[in-house]
Amino acid sequence: MTTRIYDDRVDLDSNDIKEFWAKRALSATGLKTVLLGDDKGAQAERNRKECSILEEALSGLKSLRILDIGCGIGRWVENLGDKIETYTGIDFTAEYVRIANGKYADRKDVNFYEMSVCDMSEEILSKDYNLVICTGVLTYINDNELPKIFEKIRELSPEYVYIQESISLMDGRLTLDKFESKELKSNYSAIYRTQAEYEQYFKDFDIIKTDLLLDDEIGGRKETNARYWIGRTK
Ligand SMILES: C[S@@+](CC[C@H](N)C(=O)[O-])C[C@H]1O[C@@H](n2cnc3c(N)ncnc32)[C@H](O)[C@@H]1O
Repeated sequence: MTTRIYDDRVDLDSNDIKEFWAKRALSATGLKTVLLGDDKGAQAERNRKECSILEEALSGLKSLRILDIGCGIGRWVENLGDKIETYTGIDFTAEYVRIANGKYADRKDVNFYEMSVCDMSEEILSKDYNLVICTGVLTYINDNELPKIFEKIRELSPEYVYIQESISLMDGRLTLDKFESKELKSNYSAIYRTQAEYEQYFKDFDIIKTDLLLDDEIGGRKETNARYWIGRTK
């Protein structure tokens, strides 16, 4: 069976994705559990780089009211620290939500909920946010769900959005479907869409900054990389 699919649009099995993250949450800790890969130094460097890019772009905002979609262990609470007025993180991996709620139990303004990004509740969607973050999540979302997520972000109308995603550097997308990953010691499924495939959803935002995130040292590859977009709602 082909597990590395070029160009064609193939749906991922969402149970595979859920199972992968449930196992990952139990088998790795710290940044390594959410930023994948083997090399702890590379993950820390990648986090530092991403953090300084976002901090610079947000320097005009005094305080942040954040919705973090697919938040993992709440990396962005640590990264944006004192600037946070309120933070709401959602993730469908119960163990991450448990760890994150435990870690920030003393911060009443920081809350994590177990929830799929494809099924965000009214309670979450009715709050007021000036920044929506979604980093490293959309690669696990099928094509039929993707426009709905962007539509919900548009309706929230935050001042800023920060999206960071693994992408294909080729002319077409690459899909890994139950790919036997030696590095991750697990079967792995993900859709590496092209930059253009993502940018069709950004028409409601002015993109104020976008670039590739990774060099060879911190996980850049020949066929894939991660791209970030910082947008402002029009
Ligand atoms: C690569 S990690 C990134 C975590 C976090 N955004 C960060 O940057 O540190 C991907 C995260 O997406 C979550 N995820 C994947 N599919 C999801 C879905 N349908 N609903 C909610 N969370 C999902 C996983 O549980 C995992 O925490």
